[in-house]
Parts: sequence; C-alpha cells; structure tokens
Amino acid sequence: MDLSSGRPDGETLHENSLPRLYRDLASWFPILTAPEDYAEEAAIYRKIMVGAGASPLETLLELGSGGGNNASHLKPHFMMTLVDLSADMLAVSRSLNPECEHIQGDMRTVRLGRLFDAVFVHDAIMYMTTENDLRSAIETAFVHCRPGGVALFCPDHVRETFRPTTNHGGHDAGERSLRYLEWSWDPDPADTNYTTDFAYLIREGGNVRCEYDRHICGLFGREEWIRFMTEVGFHARSVPFEHSKIEPGTAEFFLSIRPQ
Ligand SMILES: C[S@@+](CC[C@H](N)C(=O)[O-])C[C@H]1O[C@@H](n2cnc3c(N)ncnc32)[C@H](O)[C@@H]1O
Repeated sequence: MDLSSGRPDGETLHENSLPRLYRDLASWFPILTAPEDYAEEAAIYRKIMVGAGASPLETLLELGSGGGNNASHLKPHFMMTLVDLSADMLAVSRSLNPECEHIQGDMRTVRLGRLFDAVFVHDAIMYMTTENDLRSAIETAFVHCRPGGVALFCPDHVRETFRPTTNHGGHDAGERSLRYLEWSWDPDPADTNYTTDFAYLIREGGNVRCEYDRHICGLFGREEWIRFMTEVGFHARSVPFEHSKIEPGTAEFFLSIRPQ
C-alpha cells in the first residue's frame, strides 16, 4: 500500500479534501451510479484500447478507479490493478471486485515500479484542476505504460464542448435509496475549473435526509490535452465518444500510445 501525497505546486489535495461522495458518503456511490449502468461504455473503452495496442493487452492499471464500476466489466478481459486516493472508495470497489489488486495512491504521484500494457483513467481525471495536476497524472500514466502500450483518458468535458447541465438519477437497494440532482456550471470561464454541485436525497428505511456536495473539476481545451500528452512522450489523439445515451459531438476521450 502506498499513499503518495505531497505536491510541489502549492494547493494540496489530500484524501480528506475529496468531495463527500468519496469520503463519508462513499457507501452510497453504487446506489447513486450502479455498476450495470457502465456496461456499454466499458465495452467501448475496451474495444478502443485493444484496437490501438500493438500486441495483446493483458495487464491494465486504472488510476482513480473509484467504486470499480468500469472495472467490474473490464476485469474478465484484463488483469487489473486499481488505484484510488480514497480508502473509502477502495473499500467499495474491493467488495465489488475482490479479485482485483487495490492500491491507495494519488494519480499525480503514485509510482508502482511496474509497467502495464494499458493505463485507463476514466472520469477521475476531472479532479485534476490545474495544468500541473493534469500533466502529473498524464506523466503517471506514461511511466506505468510499457513501450507499445496504450493509455486512455476520459474527461467528462473539454472546454470546447462544455455546456452548463442539470441531471438527475439514482437507484434503490432494498432499505436504502438515493436520488440526486447534479448541476454543472462554470463560475469563471477564464480559469481551468468548473463546478458540479450535488444535492443527494438519501433514504434509509422510512427516513429521508438531504446532503449537499460540491465537486471542483478541471476544464482544458482539446489542444492542451494533446500537447500535455505529446510533451510527456505519448502519441496522442482525440476520439469521439459514440454511446447510445450521449448526444453525438458532445463528448470525446484521448487515446495515447507510448512509442516502442
Ligand atoms: C467518479 S469516481 C470514479 C468512478 C469510476 N470511474 C468507476 O468506474 O467506478 C472518481 C474517483 O476519483 C478519485 N480521485 C480523485 N482525485 C484523485 C487523485 N488525485 N488520485 C487518485 N484518485 C483520485 C476519487 O477518490 C474517486 O474515487
């Protein structure tokens, strides 16, 4: 276990400054967003990574693996190592994915001393809110990716296609249910952040309470993404995200190959 922390560039994001969803409310994560909802997108990520790799991909490192929802669909196809900053989220993922290796670490600084055929960073990359953070996470992916291997980064938004949005959802799990309202907006279009505010309605038996949670997320342009990946040594490109529930042209991810 390696909890890597400490940052050269000022602001510190330690485990205890993560959004509440990844700390005291972590056990509600699979009720907010259920593993089965990830089947289609996980199949898309797998196809893209396998199609890009020069040789068979067997080992997969996921940085910011959260509740392990994507991992639950990827694990039949890869030997997976799951890294997350939050001990509470690792506990959620361990119960869903007991066969996967779990390690506590910060995607900006963690060094496992091993190479993987592929590195996957899903929506957790959104918590990289400064250029230094994003560059550091991309470098972590690079140093863990074998020559000829693949890295896939899946931000929720890039600057060019970001629009303020409001979503709602949630699930039931026996005596426990959750419904949420999610509101993404950009207080200052000149900086590299946007804000997502959540209201969670949490039901336990007959009691319902409301909890508030703020997520500060990173927002970077497509060319910045490509430049950061290229400067670390990847061959990188943007790929449109084609998913049955996503409006065409509104989402993309970044596919990188580490040259041989
Ligand atoms: C939305 S969840 C990821 C869910 C995941 N995509 C899944 O399939 O279940 C985001 C995760 O990013 C993690 N995270 C945020 N900052 C991090 C960092 N610096 N290093 C590692 N993990 C981080 C949080 O702890 C949280 O578990």
